[in-house]
Amino acid sequence: MGLTDTYVPSEQTKFKQEDRATFDFLKNVKTISSAVVGQAARERYQAAVREAIAAGRQPPATPREVGDLIEPLFEWQADRFISRQAQEMLWPRLFEALLPDEAEYLQRLEAPVPNPVGSLRLAPDIRYPAYYEIDYHIQPGGMHGKPMIPWVMEVGRAVYHSGANDRWEQQTKVARAIPEGRYGRILDLGCGMGSSAIVLKERFPDAEVYGVDLSAPFLKYAHRFAERFGIALHLSQQNAESTDFPDGYFDVVSSCILFHEIPDEAAENVVREAYRLLAPGGILNIGDIGPYRKLDPYRAFFSDWQTENNGEPYWRSHGTRDLEAMFRAAGFRDVTQAPVEPGAILFATQGRK
Ligand SMILES: C[S@@+](CC[C@H](N)C(=O)[O-])C[C@H]1O[C@@H](n2cnc3c(N)ncnc32)[C@H](O)[C@@H]1O
Repeated sequence: MGLTDTYVPSEQTKFKQEDRATFDFLKNVKTISSAVVGQAARERYQAAVREAIAAGRQPPATPREVGDLIEPLFEWQADRFISRQAQEMLWPRLFEALLPDEAEYLQRLEAPVPNPVGSLRLAPDIRYPAYYEIDYHIQPGGMHGKPMIPWVMEVGRAVYHSGANDRWEQQTKVARAIPEGRYGRILDLGCGMGSSAIVLKERFPDAEVYGVDLSAPFLKYAHRFAERFGIALHLSQQNAESTDFPDGYFDVVSSCILFHEIPDEAAENVVREAYRLLAPGGILNIGDIGPYRKLDPYRAFFSDWQTENNGEPYWRSHGTRDLEAMFRAAGFRDVTQAPVEPGAILFATQGRK
């Protein structure tokens, strides 16, 4: 089975066989490299830690100390080189593969959806914050600079995650972290191509689900995609730091993997804005990579690699920021922070207004 056969939640992007073969190859090379070469690096690292303990020395306690042990290892260098190279090859190759049918894809994004159950509100004059104008994940044009980006991401994200998020596993776990309840309105901040908002609607079918994102191409895709399945989402192009919804409009505000994409000041603004938007008793649920201090030092080091090697300049800020303190400073109570399931690197931070 190839990538585009197994990738279920898609708009069924068309590719020539040779392009499909390239994307399957990139996905497989990343998966195998991580399972074999990366695993060998981990085992050598673990052996070195055991040796250090047996010799009465302290094992690495910080990501930097892990790096000192692991960075010289050939297996580490090889696995990371493969990961970076696959990423560099992926995006330009995807844009190129879609080029012959570009006009058709763009027309599909622009075409109005007949009798929508949800809504889409774009803001052509929006001012993008400076931090947003970067090539996230080494994607040329980042999240919004190229109108073809949703079609590129549709397949690219499956390669990017080596198939591990093909069924929106991350988004589902973040939505499941929200306590059971009857909620009237739920807002998804940084809803992207719609997956995190769709799983919220699936988990809480009686709630009205709203999503905001800065990227017009992503929102157009999300709208079209949700409508295709009759899922009502109310999407608007807005900065999550400052939205136009009234005070107390939502019972739950959630976000899935937005926070590692924004710097500290923006993160503080988003938490404050969420507080404003929530009704008394409302819940803020932020799903993202766990803070380094709550991960074992190896995982923290591995996670931190993204910062300098994968177009994720705010990753380290997120890994080292005290999100719980940010919640409390904004006024939230009952603040908790825990992995979405035992051992997960994905954490949910929650607080109540
Ligand atoms: C990694 S994606 C996650 C998308 C979606 N939540 C999901 O789980 O698939 C992060 C999203 O946040 C959006 N974003 C980044 N900064 C933002 C901001 N200040 N306001 C609104 N959206 C933002 C990006 O455009 C992108 O769609």
